[in-house]
Amino acid sequence: MSDVRFDDRVAVVTGAGGGLGRAHALLLASRGAKVVVNDLGGSREGSGSGSKMADQVVDEIKAAGGEAVANYDGVDTYAGGENIIKTAVDAFGKVDIVIANAGILRDRAFHNLEEADWDKIFAVHVKGSFDVIQPAFRLMRQQSYGRIIVTTSNAGLFGNFGQANYSSAKTALLGLASTLELEGAKYNIKANVIAPVAASRLTEDVMPPAVLEKLLPELVSPVVAYLCSEECQVSGNIFTAGGGYVGRAAIVESKGAILPGISIEAVRDNFDKISDMTGAEEFSNAFEEVSKRLSAATAAS
Ligand code: NAI
Repeated sequence: MSDVRFDDRVAVVTGAGGGLGRAHALLLASRGAKVVVNDLGGSREGSGSGSKMADQVVDEIKAAGGEAVANYDGVDTYAGGENIIKTAVDAFGKVDIVIANAGILRDRAFHNLEEADWDKIFAVHVKGSFDVIQPAFRLMRQQSYGRIIVTTSNAGLFGNFGQANYSSAKTALLGLASTLELEGAKYNIKANVIAPVAASRLTEDVMPPAVLEKLLPELVSPVVAYLCSEECQVSGNIFTAGGGYVGRAAIVESKGAILPGISIEAVRDNFDKISDMTGAEEFSNAFEEVSKRLSAATAAS
């Protein structure tokens, strides 16, 4: 089998000045992609800015013989997102791949969370994905090609103590990818979700060094790169990756129970059946779920 290549492809990687984004950018560039290395260059909590982080990664790519340009905009404004995509178009003529990866943390137990911590996390992770993906998506429709990755977290899939803001924002991205799958299908635009685990400045104090040294970001990037490749035909899916493990996560629904004349007591008495995940199913869109589940209920009523 031939190698997966990205020759003549233009990739935008947000938050690529360090951690996972840097590894994604280096890998894509090493396989022929022209890369926009975006990074605001701020702190882990989202304050400050600077050009050093993005510049360093561009230098690394160029030193290895690849092509890259830096961009220092924050993803958390629409103008920033537009300028990131403009950087790709100005430098390389188009954009084929967007990896929305930029992220920060503002962890606090829910009862201590301040409004600003909620808003900033949503601005960077949720709006930051929209700000970059929408201008790219418009171009991708015109060229009938695109590959989009949004970055969720196991906190977004399963919850995590002290991360109400972050986990909520990360879950929002699942909805974004599911809808981009549907709206992009006609235009050969695939949108998938990565839930990574890797050693980075975001995780340096949450896992012991012995564990972190086995969780190099480079062990996640091949999954992201495959999902960004022309050969990848899946869309709207969630992949979990870390330390060489790769899996798929999904939102599924139980077979449930049809309760004619439904009452509080009927819900109580059928709770085990309602909750039983045997034979749980995935649905490709909201309409399919409604038709399959509700049509059975309305037919029985
Ligand atoms: P990181 O802190 O090394 O990388 C994030 C990068 O985003 C930083 O270089 C930062 O400067 C940049 N950034 C932050 N705000 C920005 C903004 N407004 N505009 C542009 N760039 C901005 O952290 P890591 O771990 O590499 O995180 C990458 C993504 O993966 C994040 O979305 C994070 O939430 C997600 N993630 C990471 C996990 C891990 O185990 N490292 C686990 C689950 C999710």
